[in-house]
Amino acid sequence: MKLLVANHKMNLTYSNIMEYREKLDAVDHSNCDLVIIPSFLYLGVFDGVNYSIGSQNVSNKNMGSLTGEVSAEQLKSMNVKYALVAHSERRNIMKEKNFDFTEKIKRLIENNITPIFCIGESLSEKNMNLTNHILKDEIELVFNNFNSTDISKIIIAYEPIWAIGSGLTPTNSEIYSSIKLIKEIIKVDYNTDIKVLYGGSVNPNNIVNLETISNIDGYLIGGASLDFEKMLKMIGELK
Ligand code: PGA
Repeated sequence: MKLLVANHKMNLTYSNIMEYREKLDAVDHSNCDLVIIPSFLYLGVFDGVNYSIGSQNVSNKNMGSLTGEVSAEQLKSMNVKYALVAHSERRNIMKEKNFDFTEKIKRLIENNITPIFCIGESLSEKNMNLTNHILKDEIELVFNNFNSTDISKIIIAYEPIWAIGSGLTPTNSEIYSSIKLIKEIIKVDYNTDIKVLYGGSVNPNNIVNLETISNIDGYLIGGASLDFEKMLKMIGELK
């Protein structure tokens, strides 16, 4: 069953999210594993829903005196099952580094929350044929700090930076090759298997085509996940 992960980022007001939840509650999503990742503020709005909720971020520290941060333990107490780590906006805008990602993944695994670890190349890296090199580096610099049991608990989201919010996507064969490479790295380096999601401008139109790629385990969706009607269509297209 595919995983459909909706990353709301810093969008929607309280009344928007109440309406979104109400509509989503009436939807049959039995053909996929649905994960909604709202703003931290609205996690409580999704209390008791019959799909999973996720977190956009987590502190790399344990609970304590750290103004403005949210701990993995607190997320667990709100029934959060997944958390994004190393999204390109956290890498590039918030300047988070491999050390942060490693510590965040540790805190999440300690609290039985599944990390969704995001990797992907920039446009200039793609144009210089560096995609494979970047993907391998981004994985190994963090995953080398974990054993295979822990790594098998992580999901990777392959999100080319140039595809995020741009309306552009790689070709099907490019996505297939990148996901194949990621799965091979995990097998060869860590002797385990993990799921790989694709993210970057997924929408109700292109998801039909993306669904023909045989090695995709699901999708991480930003912009299109904010619109309930688009969500409905994307859920309906999943095989
Ligand atoms: P997008 O965002 O679907 O708007 O391209 C994806 C993401 O940033 O996770």
